Amino acid sequence: MALLSRRSVLTAALGAALAVPLASAPASAVVGGAPASTTAYPWLAAVGSPIFFVRPSGQFCGGALIKPDRVLTAGHCVSMFRSVPGLLTATFGRDELTGSGGETVAVTSVRVHPRYRETSFRDETVGHHDLAVLTLARPVRRPLASLGSPGSARTGRIAGWGFTSENDLFNTRLRAARVPLPGDAACERAYGDSFDPSDMVCAGSAAADSCQFDSGGPLVARGRVVALVSWGYGCGKPGYPGVYARLDSLP
Ligand code: ARG
Repeated sequence: MALLSRRSVLTAALGAALAVPLASAPASAVVGGAPASTTAYPWLAAVGSPIFFVRPSGQFCGGALIKPDRVLTAGHCVSMFRSVPGLLTATFGRDELTGSGGETVAVTSVRVHPRYRETSFRDETVGHHDLAVLTLARPVRRPLASLGSPGSARTGRIAGWGFTSENDLFNTRLRAARVPLPGDAACERAYGDSFDPSDMVCAGSAAADSCQFDSGGPLVARGRVVALVSWGYGCGKPGYPGVYARLDSLP
């Protein structure tokens, strides 16, 4: 789904369960982040499914409330649910996924970017036009995310409930980090043709990056969501920034 595109996550989970005693977690989660509160991100959604029982709140991605009943997320997070949108939920206001704070709303439809497609870079799935819009079963009364373009921003912020390192599968706390936007050339050096500057922007460093389960979550610059967590080679690997789906080409 995102369980199939979670293949790598499940493989990683198993791998890490075996390897954790050997690998010391790099300090870098939201590599390199610190605990954050949804009060600072009232429009931030934890996108999940009750059938994704391996994670509290069923969470596997992030998203942003863009209308009272619409959540923007990554295409790869939800493309498997196109025919079964009712299996998805969006949860707002829950800093800690093991808790029951905030509110959870069912999803009634999934619209993936018409030009969404997948290629690969080494073991990683690369999403092109990696965007989707979820329709919620009811409008929620929360501030909306304002959207924008990265422009010439040199830094941004990321937030998510994902791994705090390549080996930490168990984080369930919302965390956020400040990340540099190193520019297209840095991503072209890392990823060659897999990186398409027309619909992607890169962000992050060895010290701070997004990671698994952060996908669909926001890259915020100048107070606006300018891109969503999409893919990357590992997490916080030197020379391999995270890659984010730009919003310019919204469906
Ligand atoms: N595809 C991952 C997800 O589903 C996000 C990976 C981001 N990787 C990175 N190095 N920034 O959660």
